Amino acid sequence: MNAHSIAEAAYIVAALLFILALAGLSKHETAKQGIVYGIAGMVIALAATIGVATEHAATIAIVLLVVAVVIGAAIGLWRARIVAMTGMPELIALLHSFVGLAAVLVGWSGYYSVEHDSGQTEFAGSLLRIHHAEVFIGIFIGAVTFTGSIVANLKLSARIKSSPLMLPGKNYLNIGALVAFVVLTVLFVRSPNLPLLIAVTVVALALGWHLVASIGGGDMPVVVSMLNSYSGWAAAASGFLLNNNLLIVTGALVGSSGAYLSYIMCTAMNRSFISVIAGGFGIEAGPADDTDYGEHREITAEDTAELLKDASTVIITPGYGMAVAQAQYPVADLTRKLRERGVDVRFGIHPVAGRLPGHMNVLLAEAKVPYDIVLEMDEINDDFGDTSVVLVIGANDTVNPAAADDPSSPIAGMPVLHVWEASNVVVFKRSMAAGYAGVQNPLFFRDNSQMLFGDAKARVEDIIRAL
Ligand code: TAP
Repeated sequence: MNAHSIAEAAYIVAALLFILALAGLSKHETAKQGIVYGIAGMVIALAATIGVATEHAATIAIVLLVVAVVIGAAIGLWRARIVAMTGMPELIALLHSFVGLAAVLVGWSGYYSVEHDSGQTEFAGSLLRIHHAEVFIGIFIGAVTFTGSIVANLKLSARIKSSPLMLPGKNYLNIGALVAFVVLTVLFVRSPNLPLLIAVTVVALALGWHLVASIGGGDMPVVVSMLNSYSGWAAAASGFLLNNNLLIVTGALVGSSGAYLSYIMCTAMNRSFISVIAGGFGIEAGPADDTDYGEHREITAEDTAELLKDASTVIITPGYGMAVAQAQYPVADLTRKLRERGVDVRFGIHPVAGRLPGHMNVLLAEAKVPYDIVLEMDEINDDFGDTSVVLVIGANDTVNPAAADDPSSPIAGMPVLHVWEASNVVVFKRSMAAGYAGVQNPLFFRDNSQMLFGDAKARVEDIIRAL
């Protein structure tokens, strides 16, 4: 058996391990095991690839490869260790941009090793034309993923505004870019040349930037999983170019699971899947919000403790602010204390609360809040009417009644937790600032709502002391 056959066998084992990893990650209890499968698959894949490379490549190329892997692994380990949970989406977006950039570079190198010097090629006839198409499509998907992911990273890390960029005729710009891609592809397959390659790279870079810039903050969770999907297709396109079956299989796995996750999130947020993947197609800017919502009322931690003492049922709806404040431990402590007093305490979790799918569930599990009192939005949304007190801990967009009541709101139609139906609502936050989607929240001005200002962790600890 030569090194190539051994590598192909290793690739099949790695592909199976990746499938097992995805299956494991789909359930809380098996998630850790899924990660172990994924790591094992990646180690086998890397070892097999380096093994094949040693057969053909010059020593200097192997040395460069190993040095690049060691530097990349060291940076990856360092970033993964220091990243805060709230910074995960922006890190993931950055990693997607690398996959996109790699696909662009593979495409360009494919052009230089085949099309540029057609005398040297082992391809002929229709196979050669397929190669032309692979180069072009790979570069297109890669470049869209690259700039799209960079914009997502900038929006998620709040380095640019999360509100949607509304260029005039934005839908026509996107459609125009797609038509240009099709025309350029036909021209390139007929007669490949450098200006066409440059043109498709520029069009795709601009399209990726515009697609994600046009999507509003509230839809960012879908964008991140959509870019995850794009990065998978970019990797699969590179797999075709490099004739690497494992890259094709892995890319297709990431591409299809990312697309399915985007679909699930769109359903949960009542968004049109097509509209979101087409850069907010059909969504127009709403009127500027200069509504006078009236005055808000404030409450102290001591008075909140009094409210809780008299309550029979309490629902806690956590959001991004709980993660920022790392308030999950005192929140778990407060829950224990209230339950000991006979208060019925439950949690209501919105599907996109925080900045990651399952973000709140992970934090609450970390603080040892029992699973059976942590309910999904659909399981608890009808119960707010019979609830004495709702504690909104660092949540904002996910409890915004405008989504349900105001058709002109940018988050109109997104299902939200109906906290305002409870007898009393206490909102923990530091100021009257808007949430991630940049939309004012009329909940804060309702008669049954009171604001408890300050860092969520400090305020919950104050309540525990007062109890
Ligand atoms: P957000 O709407 O992001 O609001 C969080 C609130 O927490 C802010 O209004 C902020 O107000 C408050 N806060 C921040 N730090 C705090 C602290 N230390 N103590 C107390 N309060 C603090 O939260 P949400 O309701 O969880 O909604 C999530 C949003 O993120 C949605 O728009 C969603 O679409 C988007 N998103 C979600 C995901 C996923 S997958 N979950 C991914 C990307 C984006 P102050 O500044 O006044 O304190």
